[in-house]
Amino acid sequence: MLPTRRKKLGRLLVLTALAISLASCSIIGIPDSPLNSLDPQGPFAERIDNLFWPVFWVATVVFVLVEGAMVVSLFLFRDRPGRKEPRQIHGNNKLEIMWTIIPAVILASIAIPTVRGITDLTECGADAYPIQVIGHQWWFEYRYPQEEVVTGTELVMPAGREVCATMTSEDVLHNFWIPALNGKRYLVPGQETQLRLEAFEPGTFIGQCAEFCGLSHSLMRARAVALTEDEFASWVSSQQEPAAQPAEGSEAAAGLEVFLNRCTQCHTVDPFNVVALDEFSGPDLTHFMSRDTIAGGALEYSRENLTRWLANPPEVKPGSYMPDLGLTQEEIDSLIAFLETLE
Ligand code: CUA
Repeated sequence: MLPTRRKKLGRLLVLTALAISLASCSIIGIPDSPLNSLDPQGPFAERIDNLFWPVFWVATVVFVLVEGAMVVSLFLFRDRPGRKEPRQIHGNNKLEIMWTIIPAVILASIAIPTVRGITDLTECGADAYPIQVIGHQWWFEYRYPQEEVVTGTELVMPAGREVCATMTSEDVLHNFWIPALNGKRYLVPGQETQLRLEAFEPGTFIGQCAEFCGLSHSLMRARAVALTEDEFASWVSSQQEPAAQPAEGSEAAAGLEVFLNRCTQCHTVDPFNVVALDEFSGPDLTHFMSRDTIAGGALEYSRENLTRWLANPPEVKPGSYMPDLGLTQEEIDSLIAFLETLE
């Protein structure tokens, strides 16, 4: 008796440990991102949805038929005293042919629209609005080649218009996934992949890097913000403006000094400094305040979160290339005052 009890206890302990470690995933306090691929918000995601449901129902019917037949057989032909062996169907040609042809027809009728869909979802239309997506450990960078705009963390796009995301990676494999707008697609170092994105209506759509890419993979969030045509045009023109000079003697001016001394190896704030795009660099901060999240989308913007991030980045994002610079609270406060001028 004792060994079974010990086994049960062991199992309980393993389950408890598992529950605790899974629960710890939420301890870090990142915004919850409900990633729901059953709630399409644009034509490309809808196309996936339109394929998913018929496949789901066919699979359900097959499941019920197969499991039903199994349960019925188990019950009808169960062993009972004095019972003869039921009739065997092994080697029955008719049955063999039938249960080969039917699944083959089902699979073919699923494969054809699937393969067609995969090509359609990744080959952009001629009039699509081009945006480049570059993966970094651990944040997404977005470049708008027509407008010469560079931003990160949030993909701002026009609603009701196809966007052609041309994607690559600076370091390792990443995978861009905004389930409300399309399926997943890899970002491959040294190669370009394309993904069509479109939102029917303005809104914010949450996503996530979907390929394990190192320590902070789970914190590599994606977010698409679809704006009306007018809002998008004014977003573009504000992104093209350089940052304003902070007033002399202000806390923001002190923050600019800290920025120039400590942050310019990786970050750009136009017009104060420029880090060449193709060198290793962190996000362009010229319009820092136009984004709702910081730290590659790991934290919602708030003074408290920004303080936490600046005080010790690798504590927020394990493995972060932004090091703990040992900033004093005074330096952090003035940096924040400066960053908050970057509209
Ligand atoms: Cu990038 Cu996971």
